Amino acid sequence: MIELENLSEIINNALRDIDYPSQPAGLYQPIAYILDCGGKRLRPVLTLAACQAVCGDSAKALNQAMAMEMFHNFTLLHDDVMDKADLRRGRPTVHRKWDEATAILSGDALLTLATMRVSMNAGEHLHDVMTLFNKTAMEVYEGQQNDMDFEQEDDVTIEQYVEMIRLKTSVLLGAACEMGAIMGGADEKVRRALYTYGEKLGLAFQLQDDYLDTYGDALIFGKEIGGDIVNNKRTWLLVTALAADESGKLRKLIEHCPVANSEKIAIVMEIYEKLNLPQLCTDAIRSYVDQAVTAVKTAGLSAADEKFFVDLALSTIGRTH
Ligand code: IPE
Ligand code: IPE
Ligand code: MG
Ligand code: MG
Ligand code: MG
Repeated sequence: MIELENLSEIINNALRDIDYPSQPAGLYQPIAYILDCGGKRLRPVLTLAACQAVCGDSAKALNQAMAMEMFHNFTLLHDDVMDKADLRRGRPTVHRKWDEATAILSGDALLTLATMRVSMNAGEHLHDVMTLFNKTAMEVYEGQQNDMDFEQEDDVTIEQYVEMIRLKTSVLLGAACEMGAIMGGADEKVRRALYTYGEKLGLAFQLQDDYLDTYGDALIFGKEIGGDIVNNKRTWLLVTALAADESGKLRKLIEHCPVANSEKIAIVMEIYEKLNLPQLCTDAIRSYVDQAVTAVKTAGLSAADEKFFVDLALSTIGRTH
């Protein structure tokens, strides 16, 4: 059983070894920049670990694992334009270091590189991995559009929010797991169990991301704190707070904000704390982690492999970056 750090090292080395054309530099340098600047490598680690768990050899899924990370980084290039974010993994975002046109086009190119990569050495699994990859990509776009639309929508319910994050975030973690299972030759039941594990883990993961956007430390989180509040992003915290906003004070504040961003962040945080939302958010995260753990236990993995996935899910609770 290869350890977590070693799996992410395998991915880092493989990504570092990609040889890009030198020209046009404005297309390829931002791709090398985003892929080189850290990140937890969660999705490709899930792919390698799932493949290893079902067939004992993570190497069979290396290209598909790389494709998962490349696709994820493509979504980040565009997401940072959409969210007007200045900082990613402790460094300026591509659209700040270069410009928006660069982030859009190098994002497009990275999506194509990811699509090419997912089919590499897929052999008899080519159809299954391409079908999963394309379906997942479309769902991520739907989730991202919902995320943007919800910034302007009055009454987003918690169910709508959960479906939005399932699409924008969870399906990619689910697909990362299933991709590894496919490359390892798993049957349908094991594929489903691992997909569901990734999907539930993704819900926990996005809730923690929402939490950290307000309560994290920028130096550790690597992203600016408070951006979600400034953008009126319908996070778990804001959706829950709006549902409890009987006086209409919060709704008024986000509709016509009369104060500077820093003051808006402070006022909204005070409302969150009065409602005990930091604690309630952590409880909700824990319950999705429990669902992920339940799902992986139906996959029939060895005790050591099962423990790997359980520990990974538990590490989402209270993660700081
Ligand atoms: C950021 O993902 C986008 C979300 C879905 C929350 P990660 O938190 O996995 O980002 P990196 O790759 O580790 O930087
Ligand atoms: C991320 O949602 C979803 C995708 C990138 C598809 P966020 O917008 O919350 O991610 P961060 O916080 O910018 O990483
Ligand atoms: Mg976003
Ligand atoms: Mg964002
Ligand atoms: Mg976020």
